[in-house]
Amino acid sequence: MTQYDLVIRNGQTVTDKEQIKQDVGIKDGKIVTLGDIAEQGTREIDADGLLILPGGIDAHCHIEQKSSSGIMTADDFYSGSVSAAFGGTTTILPFAAQHRGQSLRQVVDEYMACAEPKAVIDYGFHLIISDASDDIIGQELPAMIEDGITSFKIYMTYDDLKLDDYEILNVLAAARREQAMVMIHAENHDVIRWITEKLLDQGCGAPRYHAIAHAQIAEKEATHRAIALAELLDTPMLVVHVSSEAALNEIRRAQERGLKIYGETCPQYLFLTIDDLDKDGMDGAMFCCSPPPRDKQSQEAIWSGLIDGSFTVFSSDHAPYRYDSSGKLSAGAEPTFDKIANGVPGIEIRMPLLFSAGVTQGRMDIHRFVEVTATNAAKTYGLYPKKGTIAVGSDADLGLWDPEKQVEIKADDLHDNMDYSPYEGMIATGWPITVISRGRIVVEENELKVERGSGQYLKRERPEAAKPLEKLVKEMNPETNFNAKFI
Ligand code: URP
Ligand code: ZN
Ligand code: ZN
Repeated sequence: MTQYDLVIRNGQTVTDKEQIKQDVGIKDGKIVTLGDIAEQGTREIDADGLLILPGGIDAHCHIEQKSSSGIMTADDFYSGSVSAAFGGTTTILPFAAQHRGQSLRQVVDEYMACAEPKAVIDYGFHLIISDASDDIIGQELPAMIEDGITSFKIYMTYDDLKLDDYEILNVLAAARREQAMVMIHAENHDVIRWITEKLLDQGCGAPRYHAIAHAQIAEKEATHRAIALAELLDTPMLVVHVSSEAALNEIRRAQERGLKIYGETCPQYLFLTIDDLDKDGMDGAMFCCSPPPRDKQSQEAIWSGLIDGSFTVFSSDHAPYRYDSSGKLSAGAEPTFDKIANGVPGIEIRMPLLFSAGVTQGRMDIHRFVEVTATNAAKTYGLYPKKGTIAVGSDADLGLWDPEKQVEIKADDLHDNMDYSPYEGMIATGWPITVISRGRIVVEENELKVERGSGQYLKRERPEAAKPLEKLVKEMNPETNFNAKFI
């Protein structure tokens, strides 16, 4: 009997560090041999001319999630995970979103029950915490972190989600104690509210005004404030979906000062601009997300942050609301911009569009591509080295990429449950033609090969990155437990 369930031959394996022509031997879902393999596997794949990349990790996506205003995403855990897999992603970390008044345990149980029978690739959850009461932060959150949900998102905006600075400090202190990763949506709520009121008073309700209301300065100020709060308590923090040069520069300054501040950006900030919101009728609604796509200057700055290491992860922020009355137009046929569901789809195109515009077009080294699409997410969220790399002992999560395959993005061809794609008509050069999760062939010859529910839940470790800085730990005042240099 052969010792390999699967052997992949003649391909080039690529990690964040190296590219090597070698065979990959897989047994029981794990990589067991890398190098020349003489023995036949039960199954063999010839990867001549292909790149073998770690399966992508999409660390920010909204799946089967009800928004704070009660609108359901178009994708459930089946369509969302299938779509992810067709784009080279083998792990998703969507949100288990608490609505105020709900216990975290109840929320997680509900999301688990949705995901378990449907997901086709592996999944974990981040929590969204909208109720920072003492019970939730003091009792429930530590229990959930202990159970492997070692990261959570908080918001500085949205009426039903936002935490004030006092609450954020409580949450950061809990994350510090428990060594969990805090993800923050940084936009100044009152700035957005104030501009929105003024715009609506003047009859400016079209989708394009969404981008005016969500001003860059609202993102910059909130990013600066969030970093200050994290510094006060010496707590690592990741700023999600960074859209503007101004916010990126706040993150860079914090990193230059040695703080453990991480940043995430998303396809919409590389491939869309504010002009996309300025369409006839309501069509700009298809591009409304928060923060919104910015101008060309910010788009270039976001590219530079992704290339130079300022951003740690590249996620989709897949928030699929159809362009109909179930989604974008749920408040009526012509809602003002503040009533349009926020979010754009992108779980399937995340890796191919970045591969194409980044690696194929020579902007980005392939190792950096692997780092931001897989390895860093595994490290940041407690999954490394099980996920996010190609190494003996790691899960056999792999994408076999044809670097020359050209695909025109068409909503009709994508596997999500959406009726549009913001990237319609763009051409990607480079596409994952075979996708493997724990040694199972998930996608091959443009067909799904696994059953619904065959993905597994991932109980995550406490991330290394969530450990406070030694340097600042020494400065912590033992009596107050906050950074002595601030008192
Ligand atoms: O507009 C967006 N990004 N919608 C999804 C919700 C969020 O804040 O990530
Ligand atoms: Zn957000
Ligand atoms: Zn999001």
